[in-house]
Amino acid sequence: MSRFYVTTPLYYVNDKPHLGTAYSTVTADVLARYHRLFGNETLFLTGVDEHGQKIQQAAEKRGKSPQEHCDELSETFKNVWRDFDIQYDIFFRTTSGFHVTAVQKALQELFDKGDIYANTYEGWYCVSEEIFYTEKELVDGKTPTGKEVVRISEKNYFFRMSKYQTRLVEYINTHPDFIRPENRKNEVLGFLRQPLADLCISRPKSRLSWGVEIPFDHDYVTYVWFDALLNYATGVGLYQPARTDEFHKWWHEAGANHLIGKDILITHAVYWTTMLLAMGVPLPKTIFAHGWVLNRDNEKMSKSKGSVMDPKEMIGFAGVDALRYFFVREIHLGNDAPISHELIMNRINNDLANNLGNLLSRTTTLIDKFFGGMTPAFQPQVAGADPMSRELIDHATSLASKVKSLIEDFQPSLALENIVELLNETNRFLESKAPWKTAKTDPATAGQHLYMAVEILRITGTLLSPVMPAKCRELLKTIGVKSLAWESLSQWAVTAGQTSIAKAPPLFPRIELT
Ligand code: MSP
Repeated sequence: MSRFYVTTPLYYVNDKPHLGTAYSTVTADVLARYHRLFGNETLFLTGVDEHGQKIQQAAEKRGKSPQEHCDELSETFKNVWRDFDIQYDIFFRTTSGFHVTAVQKALQELFDKGDIYANTYEGWYCVSEEIFYTEKELVDGKTPTGKEVVRISEKNYFFRMSKYQTRLVEYINTHPDFIRPENRKNEVLGFLRQPLADLCISRPKSRLSWGVEIPFDHDYVTYVWFDALLNYATGVGLYQPARTDEFHKWWHEAGANHLIGKDILITHAVYWTTMLLAMGVPLPKTIFAHGWVLNRDNEKMSKSKGSVMDPKEMIGFAGVDALRYFFVREIHLGNDAPISHELIMNRINNDLANNLGNLLSRTTTLIDKFFGGMTPAFQPQVAGADPMSRELIDHATSLASKVKSLIEDFQPSLALENIVELLNETNRFLESKAPWKTAKTDPATAGQHLYMAVEILRITGTLLSPVMPAKCRELLKTIGVKSLAWESLSQWAVTAGQTSIAKAPPLFPRIELT
């Protein structure tokens, strides 16, 4: 059996989720749900990044202890993911005891083998990104994304990242699907053309106490990125003897797929991978960096710019399933994309209200009116008699395998495009066959054309269910489909004759800007 392990970044709990963070989570959820539909054993990990200066400061501002603050915020994240119908298997918290112990084991092991050493750090530090910068990396005295930095000089512990640079470059060059898309791979290779500095992985407690204590020096805590990145592996059992089999299954056999935003490409493709090389743990299968959801000024939607859209408000406007659909269909995975009420409205009205919704409502209305609400039985000699029908049946039965390979290739927007194209073709087919007219003169043929529409609604409704779980459940119930077996999607005439079809209320009412 195939297995699929997918992760999102762990979001900082310095604030509640916004539409940008929801985008990553929805995309990973859609991929996970597709793999479950394919019959793969699937594991989906998401969660929160709870240590570090940013969180300590956020807690102080709210007059809470860091732990109290994290407990509250992680509940907020869980609630928002519930609103988005996110079906994660693991909600990871970096303050979990098992994780803290495993991080300390990793640190001790790397220290014992000489890959972590003490030195004095002199340089620039960005609190909001929790990242050190060299003089050369600064642009006009700020980080490349324009954040403030402060000068720091202190004893710290360093991870010998430079030692693994050559091996990493070799690995990237020999594993073409490791860092995706291609332009991000090139970005990482470009970054690795310069000599890598070693990575500062500690913070003195005098400056920051909220973190995982360094096991070999109690005056220090672990750098938040070193702690957080390990989650992907500790979440499935790394350095936990009782979970060895689980770790083998998900990390060694399945291999991890890290879906991340392009803003955290280097931390994943360079820090995390060299940490794994040093620990002697296999690298993930894929690191896929998606683009940014842009605000009205075409900039990254972000909390620090104050330009975020509120998930609850957007769900209220579009409906959760339609919003999930918008994310996946409108944004080609890897690209940046603007988001606005108008774009959402156009996409939903075109693809969902006028197309899918229209096909469902005209099909069920006609079956109700002319066939007493029962699907006619399939008659191959009638339905497959003309080339147009045969072609439509061919397209319908080959759609599932097309969708599967596009999803496996991280191209969900193209998968949806193919599904919508079949729906368009079916609406055109009905237009040309006009069963509303022929029902009176040639009911057998009209019945077959409507039967074809029902079959296509079964196939497309199932294929869209990972994106729009609740709406597709409703759709499939309307046409009397009970199970979602993957194999049945490449088969024709699965719907039995005399299946009772409910007259459907509009599945996706058109939305208007008020
Ligand atoms: N805590 C680190 C990640 C540690 S992973 C071990 C972090 N957290 S974050 O809260 O800043 O979230 C970063 C992620 O949120 C981005 O990589 C991206 O996946 C997502 N996004 C945040 N804003 C976004 C947009 N405007 N558009 C798309 N994704 C966005 O960095």
